[in-house]
Amino acid sequence: MLKNNKTNENRKWDHLKLIYEQGMQSKKNWMDDVILHPDAIPFVDYHDASTSCMLFGERFAAPFLVAAMTGGHPRAKQINEILAMACSKKGVPMGLGSQRVGVEDEELIQTYRVARDVSPDLFLLGNIGMSQLVSAGNPITLARECVDMIDANGLVIHFNKLQELIQPEGDRVFATIMEIVSAVKDDLPVPVILKEVGMGFSERDSRTLNAGSVDAIDIGGFGGTNFSLVEAGRITNDNYPYSRNPGNIFQDCGTPTPISIYFMRKNSDLPIIATGGIRTGLDVVKTICIGASMAGIAYPFLLSAMDDLKEGNGYLSRTERQIDTLIHEIRITMVLLNARSIDELDSTCIHFTGDLSHWVD
Ligand SMILES: Cc1cc2nc3c(=O)[nH]c(=O)nc-3n(C[C@H](O)[C@H](O)[C@H](O)COP(=O)(O)O)c2cc1C
Repeated sequence: MLKNNKTNENRKWDHLKLIYEQGMQSKKNWMDDVILHPDAIPFVDYHDASTSCMLFGERFAAPFLVAAMTGGHPRAKQINEILAMACSKKGVPMGLGSQRVGVEDEELIQTYRVARDVSPDLFLLGNIGMSQLVSAGNPITLARECVDMIDANGLVIHFNKLQELIQPEGDRVFATIMEIVSAVKDDLPVPVILKEVGMGFSERDSRTLNAGSVDAIDIGGFGGTNFSLVEAGRITNDNYPYSRNPGNIFQDCGTPTPISIYFMRKNSDLPIIATGGIRTGLDVVKTICIGASMAGIAYPFLLSAMDDLKEGNGYLSRTERQIDTLIHEIRITMVLLNARSIDELDSTCIHFTGDLSHWVD
């Protein structure tokens, strides 16, 4: 076990509160610059469009998941329970937030485990940061602990270089992470997914990553929830020795989600989960047309789960409605494109406009 550290537990809750109360969204959502080409002549009816999809050999009701957010705090337990109940009922996968504090303090394990206790059939992704793996005495043991804690169906390793560099208390030693990722992948019985948290993977990254290195990539692209802004909101004159707040300086730094998917699809065969600014079913379909297998959505589910939490214990209608709405919008988009199945979506249905068009060949 890692050393217990109350700061980590509090920091995760600070992040969640800041994002819930202040938004902390990037100025521009780059998914808006991806334009769809609908067909006027219909060949597919609404009820013939199936949103079901496969990833990691499993079938899901729709091509999106609730992306990693929380754990490690009493209210995080309630949020995870709400999200898990909705995901389990609707047949979509769910990611948990970083399990760092669960590994540090046994009493907090239940704040993550609650999601597995909702259903043994829920497809649940564990989560740990690159810096925690690098600083662990035995990273393989740490990775296994995360998987065993929740009987995870996969482990996400989150890459958050920019966030760690901005945080006054950030971990800045991570340069050996790719060797560790490879050892963890060889050891674990479940898929290992590399995920950015808002800066996206660059074209150079996409050339480094191949089928041998991991099982999938979660793009975590630029254009949605912005962790530079989140960290900027936590920096004060008392806790920072420099004259400028780096969270504000670096808030526009990153590879936009659609471009990061494009590079990854161009240079690698790895399955792609597309997270970062996905807000509607239309956005989900756009990511699949560019080359993702599935989209990941965090912020809208943070809002719905927090609202469900306020409404009362076990009441999850806003989160369920959010899932139903996304599925309805995906179906509408599929009918517009005359696609009966997710497999029939391809890049001929979209084009990049505005600034995005300068990034592609
Ligand atoms: C409150 C909150 C907490 C998050 N915590 C984690 C985390 O622990 N691990 C992780 O990999 N990503 C974490 N993320 C990042 C999300 O999984 C996602 O990549 C990012 O928010 C972009 O998606 P969005 O624009 O839909 O919010 C968190 C996001 C939010 C909103």
